[in-house]
Amino acid sequence: MRILVFGQTGQLGSALARHPNVFAVGRTVADLRFPQSCAEIITALQPTAVINAAAFTAVDAAEDTSDLARVVNAEAPRAMAEACAGQSIPFLQLSTDYVFDGTGDRPWRPDDSVAPINHYGVTKAAGEAAVREVGGCAVILRTSWVFASGAQNFMTNVLRQAATQSRLSVVDDQVGGPTPAESLAEACLTIVARLIDAPELAGTYHYSGGPDVSRSDWAREILRVAGASAQIQGVRTDAVASRAHRPLNSRLDCTRTEQVFSLQRPDWRATLAEDVAGLARQVDGKGGTKDGTEGGTEGGVEGGIQGEMPSELQQAARNNAHGADTVAVTGVGSRERSR
Ligand SMILES: NC(=O)c1ccc[n+]([C@@H]2O[C@H](COP(=O)([O-])OP(=O)(O)OC[C@H]3O[C@@H](n4cnc5c(N)ncnc54)[C@H](OP(=O)(O)O)[C@@H]3O)[C@@H](O)[C@H]2O)c1
Repeated sequence: MRILVFGQTGQLGSALARHPNVFAVGRTVADLRFPQSCAEIITALQPTAVINAAAFTAVDAAEDTSDLARVVNAEAPRAMAEACAGQSIPFLQLSTDYVFDGTGDRPWRPDDSVAPINHYGVTKAAGEAAVREVGGCAVILRTSWVFASGAQNFMTNVLRQAATQSRLSVVDDQVGGPTPAESLAEACLTIVARLIDAPELAGTYHYSGGPDVSRSDWAREILRVAGASAQIQGVRTDAVASRAHRPLNSRLDCTRTEQVFSLQRPDWRATLAEDVAGLARQVDGKGGTKDGTEGGTEGGVEGGIQGEMPSELQQAARNNAHGADTVAVTGVGSRERSR
């Protein structure tokens, strides 16, 4: 079995890349700005299955760069799905709780209507629609609040700010399930393995960590596990300035995934200590990670890919600091948007 993964450097892609049957490719090999090149790689490699863990995930930047986000999040998945369907290769496309509008407090079911409230969500919903339209043996797996040690994400931001601030403001009205990237990777591999023998299981599924929690309570738990003394002050989402609107209710009903694939929701608290310890080692306490980055940038075309990037997209591309969905973590006395 050889599973081709797009998004080698991401939180999920990195976790997948550690598995022996996985062949993961990054943007130097497969740049999603050029969807046809992704299809050609699938055709050339003839993998047993394909997982697309790559995406334009910078939620705020997507407000200004919706053309680029749409190419990466919708047109590239369509091209991948077409290549897979044409060769009867199972395909798994990752999607997000951000396809929903976040109203109410009932966990979203896979068949609930999507109604995204920001451009990132619009482009991810368009990706879902494209994959469904193509057909074939495809699963759309929605997840939420992905975290991993070593990545730029909510935990990084909480720990980084806690290193310099005694009190952090974190939104308390966004509720969802933090999802360990390692568990998500295992779930993706379980699903594609089943699809190989049971293509009739194609469809839309949810997988997120539990229990559901507010962002502020999640931050409190991160600080408790890290032994940090900073205090969390809960604030409402509408009191925090950000370019993109964010859904309040990100709860995902994972019952179908549990029943069909025997995959239970992972308890995010079980891996938190290990992940926080890993992140704490990387945080330098000066507002950046050890390597000084704030997440990668989507810059020029790199090796192995031909073609010109449209000029109007180039600046937008530079703004694409990839990472998890953004959320407000605000140190008292500063107002910094963070993922
Ligand atoms: N993070 C979350 O909280 C969250 C929540 C719900 C759903 N999801 C979904 O879960 C999936 C995985 O998320 P993640 O957290 O692992 O994402 P991530 O850490 O932000 O990684 C995104 C990946 O996509 C790659 N990428 C972006 N633009 C690309 C391009 N033009 N060509 C090639 N690769 C490109 C990035 O490569 P570079 O490193 O080269 O930029 C990176 O490997 C995505 O579909 C995301 O929408 C994530």
